[in-house]
Amino acid sequence: MTISHPNFGALDPDRIIIFDTTLRDGEQSPGFSMNLTEKLRMAEALAELGVDVLEAGFPIASPGDFESVDAIARTIKGPVICGLARTGGREDITRAGEAIRPAERRRIHNFISTSPLHMKYKLRMEPETVLEAIVAGNTLARNYTDDVEWSAEDGSRTDPDFLCRCVEAAIKAGATTINIPDTVGYALPEDIARIFTMLRERVPGADQVIFSAHNHNDLGLAVANTIAAIRAGVRQVECTINGIGERAGNAALEEIVMAIRTRHDALAWHAGIETPKILRTSKLLSTITGFDVQPNKAIVGRNAFAHESGIHQDGVLKNAATYEIMTPESVGWTKSSLVMGKHSGRAAFRDKLRALGYGEIGDNQLNDAFRRFKDLADRKKVVYDDDLIALVDDEVMRGHDRIRFVSLDVHTGSKAKPRAELELEIDGVVQSAIATGDGPVDATFNAIRDLFAHDSVLRLYSVGAVTEGTDAQARVTVRLEENGKMVDGQGADTDTIVASARAYVHALNKLLVKRTRTAPEALSA
Ligand code: KIV
Ligand code: ZN
Repeated sequence: MTISHPNFGALDPDRIIIFDTTLRDGEQSPGFSMNLTEKLRMAEALAELGVDVLEAGFPIASPGDFESVDAIARTIKGPVICGLARTGGREDITRAGEAIRPAERRRIHNFISTSPLHMKYKLRMEPETVLEAIVAGNTLARNYTDDVEWSAEDGSRTDPDFLCRCVEAAIKAGATTINIPDTVGYALPEDIARIFTMLRERVPGADQVIFSAHNHNDLGLAVANTIAAIRAGVRQVECTINGIGERAGNAALEEIVMAIRTRHDALAWHAGIETPKILRTSKLLSTITGFDVQPNKAIVGRNAFAHESGIHQDGVLKNAATYEIMTPESVGWTKSSLVMGKHSGRAAFRDKLRALGYGEIGDNQLNDAFRRFKDLADRKKVVYDDDLIALVDDEVMRGHDRIRFVSLDVHTGSKAKPRAELELEIDGVVQSAIATGDGPVDATFNAIRDLFAHDSVLRLYSVGAVTEGTDAQARVTVRLEENGKMVDGQGADTDTIVASARAYVHALNKLLVKRTRTAPEALSA
């Protein structure tokens, strides 16, 4: 039977709705928080990728969360913009409703735990009270939008009869999508299939709603469970770019989408994702969060299409299909391409950025990025697309930062005590400091602390290379902790110490944003 959905109309039964929660479930995991500029940039990339529903955040969690959901609802066109709320909280649902109001198409996603364990120890609520909350919450949510999703948190560990009663109550109260999360990543594919088959068979009204799967990856089964759910009749899948999310993460968008596409012989469904934009989106997320995916990560890992053994290389040269089940190009990998040289002009630079998937970049950011590109082209023999992406992402992300890197001179060697002369722009004023340290990085970080006093502790310092060769740009990640809040900053430059300073300054800016946000631990889903 065809379902008529408030935002999608008559739904093609073979179409899988991609619900992206990178900016909510992904963002709420430690170290992955993003500021407003970063969330907007990421939301833009997700819209370009073609996600159907974009879960933009948890508006009740803090004023900052509200602001970012509201900003995404105002500016991002294409996907349905969704805000999360707890079913039991009137204020949650009101805030979510207000935050998504500016969106062309909007959804409220409300959730409450239904498993015996969660109801007893987390909620301290009786099952009947949970049922009442489900009715009240979904009824209230419908005042803000016709597109209401309800989730049974810890649904996979819920008593089947009670789960049926909850789903029935949610549908009667107006929910149009029913999501059954495997919140703790405990289920096996057959459990997931059994739950959805049961709900579709037993619950009155089940044929009028869309069922949705939301799987966590604690046992490494999130994608397999999602595929099992699709086979059992689910038409919406919840996922994140690179599989980021609470603990071991959520099901990875790129893996689900490419599984459906590559194994269309066995999985006769389709999604609306522009797969050549997958890699670009994955890299943007890594740049923003400071976490690269592991080299062997499916689809987007550095080695996902690399063939090391002679036998494999020989096969691929004769016919790529011998060892490649999908083409690298189909997910956005291209042969490393040379970018323009140091004589290239601004127009060519802007064209190149468009080709790399950057929509319109503001004039100021373009000028700053162009200046850095010229500087890089002077210092580096060959400028690759990846160099440019690292540089531009670095620049675009820093738009609203209070502290900006200006310049750094470091004197170091085996005899002299390392000394750093640093200039930072703080709230629009350029200030300088000279500091020494146990090494050039230490001296630089001391200079930053002299210019901007703060109490945070350095928890991680790591260096990687953006491309190959000794003139490659270094990409540095710095993790700072302050009062239990953790942030990661990133910086790229051919000079490792400059990249380190940029990364530290980036982390500091994130910390300043975090200071204005209340910790959502108590609310976390
Ligand atoms: O994992 C979970 O249960 C969630 C819900 C809020 C959907 O993230
Ligand atoms: Zn989740």
